[in-house]
Amino acid sequence: MIRHGRWLVFTSLGAAMAIGGVGCLGSESDDSSASNETTTMVSALSLGDALPGTNAAAFAAAKANFGQTETQADGLGPIFNERSCSACHSVGATGGAGQNIERRYGTLTNGVFNGLGATGGSLRQLFGIGGFTPSPGLNCQSGVDANPAPGATIFAGRVTTPTIGAGLVELIPDATIQAIAAAQPAAIRGIVNFDTVHLTDGPFVRGQTRVARFGWKAVHASVTDFAADAYLNEMGITTTSCAAGQVVSDFATENRANRAATNAVINGCPDDDKPGVDDDFAAENNNCAGGLTAVQDDVANFAFFMRNTAAPVRGIDNSNGRGLTEFNREGCNGCHVTTTFTVNINGQSASFQPFSDFLVHDMGALGDGIGNDGDSVAVTRRMRTAPLWGVRFRNALLHDARTSDKGVAIQAHAGQGAAAAAAFNAATSAQRNDLLLFLSSL
Ligand code: HEC
Ligand code: HEC
Repeated sequence: MIRHGRWLVFTSLGAAMAIGGVGCLGSESDDSSASNETTTMVSALSLGDALPGTNAAAFAAAKANFGQTETQADGLGPIFNERSCSACHSVGATGGAGQNIERRYGTLTNGVFNGLGATGGSLRQLFGIGGFTPSPGLNCQSGVDANPAPGATIFAGRVTTPTIGAGLVELIPDATIQAIAAAQPAAIRGIVNFDTVHLTDGPFVRGQTRVARFGWKAVHASVTDFAADAYLNEMGITTTSCAAGQVVSDFATENRANRAATNAVINGCPDDDKPGVDDDFAAENNNCAGGLTAVQDDVANFAFFMRNTAAPVRGIDNSNGRGLTEFNREGCNGCHVTTTFTVNINGQSASFQPFSDFLVHDMGALGDGIGNDGDSVAVTRRMRTAPLWGVRFRNALLHDARTSDKGVAIQAHAGQGAAAAAAFNAATSAQRNDLLLFLSSL
């Protein structure tokens, strides 16, 4: 089925929604105004529930697709990390963070980053499908990515980030993020990352330059682009889509184990390295004839699910507000900004507090050392300010999941985060305790 117009617009419920940070649990009982009902309704949401105004049947179907276990017959592999999106995105709710720590590699060549593209690229795929028979009598082998990649000298772990509330983040105007950067003091000023939009969907148009905000390094601007990227790189499922009558094959090239010619391509087996082998949506739709714009069905469903999950609802702050004061005093809000963003989604106004500037910062020794080919070492140390909403549901913190202890995570801040770590270390134990209580309410 060809899917058009996934940016569903529903009739407004007539009231502004208070989501996450604004309608926090502690304040609703002493507010008898009309907005109280809305707040109470939204506060009743559990992690991973749909945004108010989302079509329930469409959400359930998209969520099921996000949780669907794929097989070789569906296009899984030849190399992959997991069989479904929710196999990794599962902590607290479908779409949550994960325990799965991916492996990234690279090396420095003449002082600049080299992602070892010739031997499999900087992301390691853990599994291979092994033997496969693309046509009768043709017995092929996927091979597996070598660990470590040949020549690698830089090793990084990346734990799964949550996608909950991603549809709200996606709609923060580029100019808002750029203005936050401009207003930051030079010592902690973040860098705005940009991406060129791949898939035309909703307000995103292929070829546009937009502020990238998703992932540990802020690499993509839209959840649709991230979904197609994840389908390919985590599950080995290639797709094509259509943008204004043009075939988009950016996510149509299979990964081969370490890119070795002898791995996926053995004994005359076809190189599964061309568009459409898994789901050539464009070909199925007459190569986008008639100016068609549509995203491949699964990718569209993943995007629909992610962009219609509500923000994590705030928990109770047992520091009685002192922790937030401490958060600001120690300079945490320099990057984990306390800004309440407001966007329009499902025909309604939604406000949320993700506690991130969605900028990347030079985090010194905490940076993971991974970048794009040609990046300087300083650029490879840049990490996106981790959004702190929903951090109480998390059990694996920092990009490599090195700790579950929030205090340890704070003390690991280096580079532009070093002053905040020092302020935390210099605080009294009562102040630290208040700060940690506040974080546990997010
Ligand atoms: C093998 C585990 C794994 C699977 C399977 C997986 N992901 Fe992820 N996901 C991750 C990791 C790890 C990250 C962080 C990646 C990074 O930034 O390096 C991530 C990040 C994301 C993000 C960015 C969230 C943010 O705000 O930073 C989105 C969106 C996403 N994944 C969507 C998907 C979709 C859709 C699927 C299924 C097609 C999927 N993922 C499958 C591990 C996985
Ligand atoms: C210079 C910007 C900056 C400042 C200031 C800063 N952080 Fe962070 N914070 C980051 C970045 C970037 C990350 C992600 C780092 C990584 O994992 O590589 C992060 C990660 C975290 C995490 C882990 C979240 C997760 O998803 O794993 C916590 C908790 C945290 N910060 C709390 C704080 C607190 C509390 C303060 C104040 C004491 C603070 N931060 C100050 C930039 C900052």
